[in-house]
Amino acid sequence: KDEVEPGSNEDLPPGLQRELDRLEKLFTVDTEMLKKITSRFGEELEQGLQEDHQNIPMNITWVTSRPTGHEQGTFLTLDLGGTNLRVCLVTLAPASRPNIMQHKFKVPTHFLTGTADQLFDFISSSMQEFLDQHPNHARGWSGNAPLPLGFTFSYPATQERIDHGILQTWTKGWDVKGVEGNDVAEMLRKAIQKRSLPIKLVAVVNDTTGALIASSYNDPETIIGAIFGTGCNAAYMEQVSHIPKLARTRSELNSSTTESARLLDDEGLMAINCEYGAFDNSHAVLPRTLYDEIIDQDSPRPGEQSFEKMSAGLYLGEIFRLVLVDVRDREGIFRQKTSHEFISAGKHGVSSEAKEAKEDRKGLDDAYALDTEFLALIENDHSPDLVESRLRFEAHLHHPQSLAPISPSHNELLFCRRIAQLIAIRGARLCACGVSAICRRLGVNKGHVAADGSVAIKHPHFKKRWEQAVAEILDLEKGRVELTSAEDGSGIGAGVIAALTLKSDSYNGQ
Ligand code: GLC
Repeated sequence: KDEVEPGSNEDLPPGLQRELDRLEKLFTVDTEMLKKITSRFGEELEQGLQEDHQNIPMNITWVTSRPTGHEQGTFLTLDLGGTNLRVCLVTLAPASRPNIMQHKFKVPTHFLTGTADQLFDFISSSMQEFLDQHPNHARGWSGNAPLPLGFTFSYPATQERIDHGILQTWTKGWDVKGVEGNDVAEMLRKAIQKRSLPIKLVAVVNDTTGALIASSYNDPETIIGAIFGTGCNAAYMEQVSHIPKLARTRSELNSSTTESARLLDDEGLMAINCEYGAFDNSHAVLPRTLYDEIIDQDSPRPGEQSFEKMSAGLYLGEIFRLVLVDVRDREGIFRQKTSHEFISAGKHGVSSEAKEAKEDRKGLDDAYALDTEFLALIENDHSPDLVESRLRFEAHLHHPQSLAPISPSHNELLFCRRIAQLIAIRGARLCACGVSAICRRLGVNKGHVAADGSVAIKHPHFKKRWEQAVAEILDLEKGRVELTSAEDGSGIGAGVIAALTLKSDSYNGQ
């Protein structure tokens, strides 16, 4: 279903051709399969709304309205979702674009597997540094009142209220000790108090909910907020009467909790953070390959996030690497010595990037040595003789023993490009299933899916492939369900949600 790439009709040696045929079969997801996956997806979305502890959690977010566009005020927002922590000061004013001032702090890699105290102390010290750098802006609005904070926490959390969130499980390779099963809002509050920061946590927000609300703020045709990045997930507005488990939650919760009063209205809406990366954890339908199984087994949480591990940015490069290792072991690829181009490129500074990267070169056998960006580059190389791809390989990968750069032959590069393409196409087509299942559930056949995340934004063919697959699944004209670029969900979105929360009649804060 995809465009024919230049060079794809060139003959490969029989061994590589055999491998390519095998891998094409393994990674191709045809329309019939897409439809089968989507209908199972629909069932699992429904199960998650019925009961707790299903594959797809369908988390209740307590975001109960779309923004009007007239929200106003100044808010602090925090975005913890990947390798960076972003602190923003968001100002919303009627009839003008939101204003945002931000600072990124690199989360030290060892914190991802460290302790809760370490992580939350890092967050509060980053906020302190931000406030110290912008004292007038922060004080200017709030006077003596604490700044309201919207905390974007892009992991699955059970929320009894909007300013509460018990982490269900870490995803995307995170494994900070002492957080699962605990309230991240409480931990953050304590860390804020310890430093006596003039900040009041108002809302805990998922990045998908943030994308949905931030985009609805500007574009009323937004139906879904989605992230296709390190992880993959989506949020949408569901009618309260279609969420059976909410009725039970309501009766169990202390009736004085603010939101339970608001929810007496069955006609109301509730944003649902699907957490559909966990789709098919029971392995009923997804066509998992040996490579997907290895990724799962070697991850910190085997058996979890089955869907995400086949389609999200964190894993695409790793699937590619595992395929190459397998083919190398069976077909003996990558034997060629360092290419002439690399040596001269280094000397003449043709590719300074390649030269710089050489210090960070990793072995082909090192897990996660290649990322999605690498995959995208290999797939989209239009340089003569794929020289750019070869330079990338040489810059990023070395042989295990000799530590000499890996320098693929032209045929091997053609093969690699086709593999990169197969993996990216499968990812985009699988990503279409979750969103199509939501569209079907809502009975919509047109509208905007506001998407954010590195794959949606940086992979040049993602949108086209994704829209094509949605059209096949829903039997629609291509582009009726359109992928749009989301507004900044974890910055502006979290700010708008904090504004909506403060404005809501039922908010009394904790
Ligand atoms: C993972 C997280 C989810 C998040 C998604 C995208 O699936 O569990 O909360 O929305 O990644 O960042």
